[in-house]
Amino acid sequence: MTDRYAVLGHPIGHSKSPLIHSLFAQATGQDIGYTAIETPLDGFADTVLGFRAGGGRGLNVSLPFKLQAFEIATEPSERAHLAGAANCLKFEGDRIQADNFDGVGLVNDLQRNLGCPLAGKRVLLLGAGGATRGALLPIAGQSPALIAVANRTADKAHALGRDFAAHAQLQSGGYQDLAGKSFDVVINATSTGLTQEALPLPAGLFAPGAIAYEMVYGKGLTPFLKQAQAAGASRVADGVGMLVEQAAEAFAWWRGVRPETQPVIQRLTVPLT
Ligand code: ATR
Repeated sequence: MTDRYAVLGHPIGHSKSPLIHSLFAQATGQDIGYTAIETPLDGFADTVLGFRAGGGRGLNVSLPFKLQAFEIATEPSERAHLAGAANCLKFEGDRIQADNFDGVGLVNDLQRNLGCPLAGKRVLLLGAGGATRGALLPIAGQSPALIAVANRTADKAHALGRDFAAHAQLQSGGYQDLAGKSFDVVINATSTGLTQEALPLPAGLFAPGAIAYEMVYGKGLTPFLKQAQAAGASRVADGVGMLVEQAAEAFAWWRGVRPETQPVIQRLTVPLT
């Protein structure tokens, strides 16, 4: 029988997850069905439990339900726990396992696809919301020289620093605190990639050879990536690789088979112009 999976979100119409997982299934010979389910804002738990009751095996969870996905889990992973959010569920009898693959997807994209090892690097995350929370533990696991978090609301960055204190020594603050500092890897984890707003980044932020990474995908050169190019960043990338890599982690977790990501990344890449 075909095993069923789905992605839940609101809105979910533009999700690339059904395409990505069907390409993975074709390439690995796995017999799965994967759909996108538009989920009512007040109907997350009902939708999850209904999908499971109908024989569903696992779910991806998109915005705005990642916090609720963590809460509904009976067995969250440590990284889901620290992020306070999950993007993937797996059903095993009565158990609901949850994990958060966004951060590992980002790290795998940077290190494997973009050739940018994080060990010894100065890494800056812009934003202190769920996207940054999800990324911190996997980044810290690569032993960067330092991790800084800058946020419009500096207190939220400081709160993150306290929450992750046992795992990483974060430099936290507002954008003004970045003056005079430079970084090898600068990641935009704010929602400005979607809203096309610019961030108040000081001159000299990008060290020689630096990479600028926009977590949003498929938007071409966002204001952040344009700022990075103008400020001398050597390379710019968007989040298409992160999207495909987190999907590959989910697929491997569900199916026990790791799909190749390169052909799917190539298929989904929108040129950065
Ligand atoms: P997500 O789960 O995608 O991270 P979020 O938790 O709502 O979404 O967080 C959005 C992030 O984008 C926050 O860090 C937010 O900054 P504040 O905490 O100060 O609100 C940041 N953000 C959104 N719009 C921004 C803007 N115009 N300039 C700077 N930061 C912005």
